[in-house]
Amino acid sequence: MKFDDLDDNYQGDLALVGKTTSRIDGPLKTSGLAPYAYERHDVTGPQLVAYPVGAAIAKGRIASIDADAARSAPGVVDVILTTDVKPLPLSDWNTASLFGGAEVQHYHQAVAVVVAETFEQARAGAALLDIKYETTPAEFDLEAAHDRLSKDDVDPAADTGDFDDAFGNADVKLDETYRTACQSHAMMEPHATVANWEGDKLTVWTSNQMVQWTVEALATTLDMPAENIRVDSPYVGGGFGAKLFLRAECVLAALAARKTGQPVKMMLPRGMVFNNTTHRSATIQRIRIGASSDGKIVALGHDNTSGALPDGSGENATSQTLKFYGSKSFLVRNQVATLGLPESNAMRAPGEASGLMALEIAMDEMAEKLSLDPVEFRIRNDAQVDPLDSGRPFSQRNFVECLKTGAEKFGWTPRTGPGELERDGMWLIGTGVAGAYRGSPATKSGARVRLVEGGKLIVETDMTDIGTGSYTIIAQTAAEMLGLPIEKVDVILGDSAFPVSSGSGGQWGAASSTAGVYAACLDLRKKIAGRLENAGADVSFANGEVKFENGSMPLARIAATGELVGEDDAEFGDARDKYVVSTFGAHFTEVGVHAATGTIRVRRMLAVCDAGRILNPLTARSQVIGAMTMGVGAALMEHLAVDTKRGFFANHDLAGYEVPVHADIPRQEVIFIDGQDPHAGPLQAKGVGELGLCGVSAAIANAVYNATGVRVRDYPVTLDKLLEGLPAV
Ligand code: MOS
Repeated sequence: MKFDDLDDNYQGDLALVGKTTSRIDGPLKTSGLAPYAYERHDVTGPQLVAYPVGAAIAKGRIASIDADAARSAPGVVDVILTTDVKPLPLSDWNTASLFGGAEVQHYHQAVAVVVAETFEQARAGAALLDIKYETTPAEFDLEAAHDRLSKDDVDPAADTGDFDDAFGNADVKLDETYRTACQSHAMMEPHATVANWEGDKLTVWTSNQMVQWTVEALATTLDMPAENIRVDSPYVGGGFGAKLFLRAECVLAALAARKTGQPVKMMLPRGMVFNNTTHRSATIQRIRIGASSDGKIVALGHDNTSGALPDGSGENATSQTLKFYGSKSFLVRNQVATLGLPESNAMRAPGEASGLMALEIAMDEMAEKLSLDPVEFRIRNDAQVDPLDSGRPFSQRNFVECLKTGAEKFGWTPRTGPGELERDGMWLIGTGVAGAYRGSPATKSGARVRLVEGGKLIVETDMTDIGTGSYTIIAQTAAEMLGLPIEKVDVILGDSAFPVSSGSGGQWGAASSTAGVYAACLDLRKKIAGRLENAGADVSFANGEVKFENGSMPLARIAATGELVGEDDAEFGDARDKYVVSTFGAHFTEVGVHAATGTIRVRRMLAVCDAGRILNPLTARSQVIGAMTMGVGAALMEHLAVDTKRGFFANHDLAGYEVPVHADIPRQEVIFIDGQDPHAGPLQAKGVGELGLCGVSAAIANAVYNATGVRVRDYPVTLDKLLEGLPAV
């Protein structure tokens, strides 16, 4: 189906979609029976184990590799060296080469793989490789690169309304620079693949968010036809963007399996995930806001610098600035510094997550300059149409309602500055607010639904569930459409043998994939009606039955005369072109800062989200509280420490790269504004998984300022940045 206008919206009553429903894959996951990629022992004969070796320099070339000791080590079956393989072609989704050739483009880029009978043997063999490098100089320091770059070389993303004049003449002005650190996805399950060849056909059981992209990327990288490749990724232990694309472990497993003629499995060791795969680039963001004395923004300037390998795109931290607040003039520029660090790429809410960390502190600072409450200041500058295209309204925008609802539920006291210090024993208490914005794209998504013996419905699509709840919302959608209880629906995901879906990324997965399932179910409903004689036009589905003009029939009986199959995809056309389809929210937090040590504890958090119809409040809430937790990490802990001499992330494990644990996280509340966005898709749903992260960190930074009077503009906000400015104990 093509979703074009309001007539394409689902019109019926909803019994299951939008209702709290426990994860249908929950029992498999909690009992350990959901098979993750590295556990797919059952899918092939005996599997060899591969262990990767990463480059020990950031840039240069390999002069020599002595692999004799590794080759003769116990249990080692084969060793593949990057110098033995021609540089593999780059797919559209990769910036750095995944393997092949003597050139080194970044630290821990794969340079060899050792294949052995056991994991321990492969690892021991890998340690015996003797690799000599020739190093070439490169830049690794974003600060230094930033100082040298000139803004004049940048094509502005927006330059309207004579910014210089408007800013220069504004009654009240802010001009500050904010910094975010390099971050790692640090998902629980490292990248893993089991690879097997049958003749010239390759199957990989892997952990990946985007099955079809990976089929295509493998076809390019291994120079083989896509139809000879099967990718299976039914369970993913977190991705956050690190698994959007084909990565080295999958390629190495495939090469090793081909060379040894045996199935090979490989997991990227945790210590290699941080430098071998992708990360979120650090940013340096200068924000200028000019406003009239009545609190209306007249000039909004945002200059962002991030880092990337040659031909990489960096972190677009200005994206929300083009859409969030109204202003008479804009000057928005992004520049990318070429660095020799590992590949920077998408991490949850790429763009907005980093951008709002800066913009929403700037809004807090500006409110104070204007002697306005920060909630009120945001409300005054809400935009109901695209700030840069007055002909393009938002499909639905309840940002003001998010702020008002949040202020009321949180118990927000309006204020015009940091006010009196508030104490609870040794803890200085503060509250903070920030706005949230995230685009909500939708992409073509297909599915097949089969009504089989016993009246069971099987849904097949290459959609992935990266911990988000895809299984459940897809089951809800299919059960809804066929009038079946959810127990009668089996959902099978992640197999490239199934219709191509949207995959999971950019918070497009939920709305897109359920639209595809909806379309396939409409097709199946037609096929069912076609099997009935004299059914008439008015056919409906409920209680496991199809009802028609002169009666009803159980679906089980219809299926008894042979399986019925519906298949279609949902595409998104004009309706989405006429509107800006985005999601909005407001975050409120309370922190305590220890008056003597500067230790920061988050005490409570509230998110209010405006994301169209919420398909399942339970799984959506889990998405948002997970994102809020990630926002605590970005605000207070997460920081890939760059060795600016040698060009790598020094803290490349979960001991050194700190993320929040349960003890760091207080009571979290999530409120969804009740909405159905009629322009978003047939189920009027939008994404929410990335929205939950947007703005969180700024709300925490603003709360720390409110608690202490110390303004930190350099994330993560750690106690060393507070100590000097803390009020006297
Ligand atoms: Mo998201 S960064 O597109 O997984």
